[in-house]
Amino acid sequence: MTASRGEFSSRFGFLMAASGSAVGLGNIWGFPTNAASNGGAAFLFTYLVLAFALAYPALMAELIIGRHAKSNSIKALQSISRGPKTRALAVAVGALGIVTVSFILSFYAIVSGWMMAFFLDPLARLFGASELASWLTRDTSWRNAIFMALFMALTIHIIRAGVKNGIERWASRLMPMLILILLLLIFYVLTLPGAMDGVHAYLVPDFSQLANPSLVVDAMGQAFFSLSLGVGTMLIYGSYISKGENLPVTGSLVALLDIGIAVIAGMLILPAMYVALANGVEIFNADGGLVAGPALIVSVLPELFGDMGAAGVFVALAFFLLMTIASLTSSISMLEVPVAYAVESGNMSRGRAALLIGAIVTCVSLVIVLNFDPLFDFVVTYATEVSQPLLGFFFCIFVAWIWRRDAVLKEISQGCPNAESGLFWKIWPLYVKFICPMAILLVFLQ
Ligand code: PHE
Repeated sequence: MTASRGEFSSRFGFLMAASGSAVGLGNIWGFPTNAASNGGAAFLFTYLVLAFALAYPALMAELIIGRHAKSNSIKALQSISRGPKTRALAVAVGALGIVTVSFILSFYAIVSGWMMAFFLDPLARLFGASELASWLTRDTSWRNAIFMALFMALTIHIIRAGVKNGIERWASRLMPMLILILLLLIFYVLTLPGAMDGVHAYLVPDFSQLANPSLVVDAMGQAFFSLSLGVGTMLIYGSYISKGENLPVTGSLVALLDIGIAVIAGMLILPAMYVALANGVEIFNADGGLVAGPALIVSVLPELFGDMGAAGVFVALAFFLLMTIASLTSSISMLEVPVAYAVESGNMSRGRAALLIGAIVTCVSLVIVLNFDPLFDFVVTYATEVSQPLLGFFFCIFVAWIWRRDAVLKEISQGCPNAESGLFWKIWPLYVKFICPMAILLVFLQ
């Protein structure tokens, strides 16, 4: 069985795939705007603490279970269960993860479709197709449905090709490109008038915000979503890591890349917003906060790019290419979760599973497109604010309370022979046993 499963061919391949999953719209869009509306560096600070203290341990829990079991999330949780009750819980948690990640993909594909449409808009304008350009940027169900389906087709295409030839190959191509485009955009935007006000808004903390309870909740939700936790993506990617890999080190590199890219993305989005302000674009909403939702990406920034003249065409192209790449390397990790289950437990071929499940998600997505107002926010909230933290809680319970401690250590020690005496083993077990589940519950109850 193990021989027929895919495996990442190198540490670099895994790092690109896992950080590709982690780095997505959550980093480039969610993090900077969350920071902007929650007191700038006060949010940044809280986020850093929560990401390292809670999200990294939870990430490790998933990677370790995955690599130990070398199978899909339901089977993996079952393999560390200890009796009929915990086996039933394993099925429930694994299945809820599969359903949740499919719903996350269904709304993610819609937003990613917008990114693709906005990427084509400057091209259309460049070639004088102004009617096409205005159709691309107009919020219609047709446009949303077509680009969502296109984005899903890309995602399905990559997943059909398998772990090494699909996920690893594409992540290894796209992630370096993403980092390069992000850095180039930052350097350019920082030279524009008004950019420094954005840097100021981002990096000068408004500590009065620390008293705001929604700050911690937002930062925690952001950290969990950003590290793709709770739904089995990191578990399944962990199941494709070789036994010779040092998990604590590799996991911390993924966390560092994810957190680092989110923090750097703040240096693009906030300065860009203040450049837009200097150009006369409205960046504050009715209650005085910064525009943060879809309006930021699909109206404030395009308006800014539009004001930049010829350079704006290239900046817009680069920006929406960046967003599309970030989305795609995340969406493939989402689709991989149910596909791996169908292949391993449903005996389906990978090609068929990717097509079938991809088609189902596309249909769900279409229903959301056609009933956008009642459904979109509802699905986002339930999937990311209810289901994801709850599942993260259960992953901690499985690894720290149900799985035998010596078995956990044995798994970590593969690829990290002196794990027992290392710092990771001194701190991490306590964290996942007490601090993570309690903190998740506390924040959840709020
Ligand atoms: N981490 C991704 C992002 O930041 C989203 C994601 C969530 C990916 C859950 C996989 C699973 O955009």
